[in-house]
Amino acid sequence: MLRPAAMILIAFLAMNLQAADDILVADFEANDYQGWKVSGDAFGTKPAQGTLPGQMEVSGFQGKGLVNSFSGGDDSTGMLTSPAFSIQRKYINFLIGGGKHPGKACINLIVNNKTVRTASGPNDRPGGTEALDWASWDVSKFAGKQAVIEIVDQQTGGWGHINIDHIIQSDKNFHVPVVDVQRSMRFNQKYLQLPVKHGAAKRLLRMRIANRLVREFVIEYAEAEPDYWVFLDISPFKGKTASLELAGVRGGKAKALDTVFQSDQLKEADGFYKEGLRPQYHFTSRRGWNNDSNGMVYYAGEYHLFYQHNPFGWAWGNMTWGHAVSTDMIHWQELDDAIHPDALGTIFSGSAVIDKRNTTGFKAGSEAPLVCIYTSAGGTNQWSRDAGNKFTQSLAYSNDRGRSWTTYAHNPVLEHIRGSNRDPKVIWHEPSNQWVIVLYLDEHEMAFYTSKDLKTWTETSRLKCFHECPELFALPVDGDEANSKWILYGASGEYLIGDFDGKTFKPETDQIRFHHGNCFYASQTFNNMPDERRVQIAWGRIETRGMPFNQMMLFPVTLKLNSTDAGIRMQAYPIKEIRKLRGEKTSIRNQTIKPGDNPLKALRGDCFDINTVVEVGDADFGLRLRDKELIYKAQEQTLSFGDHSAQVKPKQGKLRLRLLVDRTSIEVFANQGEIYMPLRCLPDEADTREIAFFSKGDVTVKRMNVFELKSIWK
Ligand code: FRU
Repeated sequence: MLRPAAMILIAFLAMNLQAADDILVADFEANDYQGWKVSGDAFGTKPAQGTLPGQMEVSGFQGKGLVNSFSGGDDSTGMLTSPAFSIQRKYINFLIGGGKHPGKACINLIVNNKTVRTASGPNDRPGGTEALDWASWDVSKFAGKQAVIEIVDQQTGGWGHINIDHIIQSDKNFHVPVVDVQRSMRFNQKYLQLPVKHGAAKRLLRMRIANRLVREFVIEYAEAEPDYWVFLDISPFKGKTASLELAGVRGGKAKALDTVFQSDQLKEADGFYKEGLRPQYHFTSRRGWNNDSNGMVYYAGEYHLFYQHNPFGWAWGNMTWGHAVSTDMIHWQELDDAIHPDALGTIFSGSAVIDKRNTTGFKAGSEAPLVCIYTSAGGTNQWSRDAGNKFTQSLAYSNDRGRSWTTYAHNPVLEHIRGSNRDPKVIWHEPSNQWVIVLYLDEHEMAFYTSKDLKTWTETSRLKCFHECPELFALPVDGDEANSKWILYGASGEYLIGDFDGKTFKPETDQIRFHHGNCFYASQTFNNMPDERRVQIAWGRIETRGMPFNQMMLFPVTLKLNSTDAGIRMQAYPIKEIRKLRGEKTSIRNQTIKPGDNPLKALRGDCFDINTVVEVGDADFGLRLRDKELIYKAQEQTLSFGDHSAQVKPKQGKLRLRLLVDRTSIEVFANQGEIYMPLRCLPDEADTREIAFFSKGDVTVKRMNVFELKSIWK
C-alpha cells in the first residue's frame, strides 16, 4: 500500500508526463502574414527574412522568417494584429528583440478589449543588440478566453522598431533566467583572451582590481564554440588580482568565464590579415570594428593613426581609441589600444598634437608629449551613466612616443556645452601662438576655442555649417605658399574655403562637394607633418560580414587647392608612397580598343594601381571589375559606378583615370584628383577576380599602366 505522499508524487509525475502539446500561434515562416492584419509600413507586407537593409545583424530568431518592424528604417510605424485565438495553455512564449519602448514598440495581449500583458525589446540606447530572446507571459488566469496579439511600432528614432518570432502556447515557460558570473585571476601575462560568437546576446563584462572598476565593455560572449577570439592588453595590471564579472549569462552556464585565458602571444595571430575579405593595403584592425580616423599626428619618424575602435566585437560599440603606427603611411603596425572607456564615458572621436613647447607641463623625459584630445561620451557606457550622461572633452598623453598612456587627472577640460557636443580637432595656430579647437556642437554648428595650455579653453566664435567631425587647416592655392586659404570641413567631406584668424572662420564660398563615392566619412589630416603635404585618411564605410573585423580606412590622399574652371577646389590624390607596393606591370600605348576587345585579358587579381589616359571620342568606355562597371559616358561626360556618377570634362580631349583597387574597394581619381570617388566594391559572387577594359565603339588608349600591388601585411 502506497503512502499518501508517494501517491501525490505519482499523480504529479503522471500529470507532467501528460503535459499537453505546445500550440503554435505563429511562426512567421510563410510568405505572407497568414491572416494577421497589417497597418502602416513598418512591418512590410510579409515577414522579414532576417536582417533588413541598414540594420545591425539580427540573430536568435528561428527558421527563416520573423516580424521585423525595421522595414523602412526606425522611423516607419505600423501595427500587426493576429486573428483571435483561444488561450489553452499556461504560458504564451515568444522571441523578442528591438527597442525598449514600452507602449510604443511592443507586443500586447488583448483579452476583452483590454491589454492584459505587454512586452518590449531590450535596447534603450545606441549600440545594443539585435539578438532575439525568449520572453514568456503567464496567462493561466485567462484559460479558455479569446485573445488577440498586437505587435505595435509607434516609435520613431533610435531603436524605433520591434522584432518578434515564434509565438507558442505551452505549459512550459521558455524564458531562461540569466545569472551573473564572476572569476578571479592573477594577471601575469600580456593579454586576456575572450571568446566571441557573432550574433550572441551582448553581455556586460566588468573588470575590477582591488574593488576598483578598471575596464568595462559589452561583448557577444561565446558561451559555446566561439567564432573568433578578441583580446585586452592587461600589462598595466601585471601582478594584480582581477575580478572578472560577466552579467546576464544563461542559467546553467556558471562556468562561462572558464574559457577566458591569459597569454603573451595572441591566439589566432597566424590567421591575422589572411581572412577572405581583408583589404590588402588599406588599414584595418586585427579584430573588431573601426570607424573614424582619430588623433592623426606625426612624431619622430612615425605617423600615428588612432581610430574609433570596438576591440571586442564586429559592430560599433565600446568606443576605444585603437592605435597604429607607420613610417610611410602605407605599412601599419598595430599597437595596443591607447585610450579606454572610463567613468566619463566611452572614447569618441578627437585629435592629437605634439606639445613641443610643453605648454601642458605633461613632459616627463626627453620626448615631447603626444597629447590626445577626445570626447568623453558620458552615458554611452554603464560606468558613466550615473555621472549625468554628459558629453565632455578630455585629454590623454604619452611621454614615450605613444607606447603608454595616462588620462589627465583633471578631465574633462571642456565641460558639456550642448547636446552631444563632440569630435574636437586641435591645431597649433602659429600666428596667434596658441592652440585652437574646432568642436562640433550638434545641430550643424561648429564652435571655436583657444587655449595656451590645452587645459583651459575660451570660446571665440560659432559657425552654422556641417555635421560632426570637423577639420581645419590652411592650404596654398596652386602651390603658392604666399597665397593660402583656410579649409573647414565636416564628416561628409563637404568643405568651405575661407579665412581664419585664430578665432573666427570667415567663409568665402558656399559648401563645396568633396567626393562622389559611396563609403567616405569622418576623415582627418595629420598634424605636425614632416613635409609640406596635407595628408588625409578617411573612414571607409565598407562592411565585411562574417569576418572577425569590420570596416576600414581609405587610402591616404594628399590634398591640394587648385584653380579650376569652377573656381578654387580641393583635390585629392593618392600619396606617392604607394609606389612601394607596385609589382608586375602591364602597359598599353596608343592602342585602339574595339567593342569586345579586352587589352587586359591576362589580368586577374585583387589589388591594382591603374593609371590611364584615354582619348575621348563618341564611344563610351570603362573598366569592368567584379562584375561591375565603371563607365565613362562620352556624350554626357559622366563617370559612373552603379548609382554614383560625376561630371568629368575631358582635358584637351583626354580623360585621365587613376584607380586603386583592393579586395573590397575601388578608389577612383579622375583628372588627377579633380574628381574623387571612393567606392565600396566587394568581390562578386563567383569571385572571378577579373579586370577588363571595355569600349562601346573605337576608343584610343593613349597610355595605361596597370601595376599589381603587394599586400602590406606580408
Ligand atoms: C562619426 C561619429 C563621431 C563620433 C564617433 C563615435 O562617425 O559619430 O561624431 O565621435 O563617430 O564613434
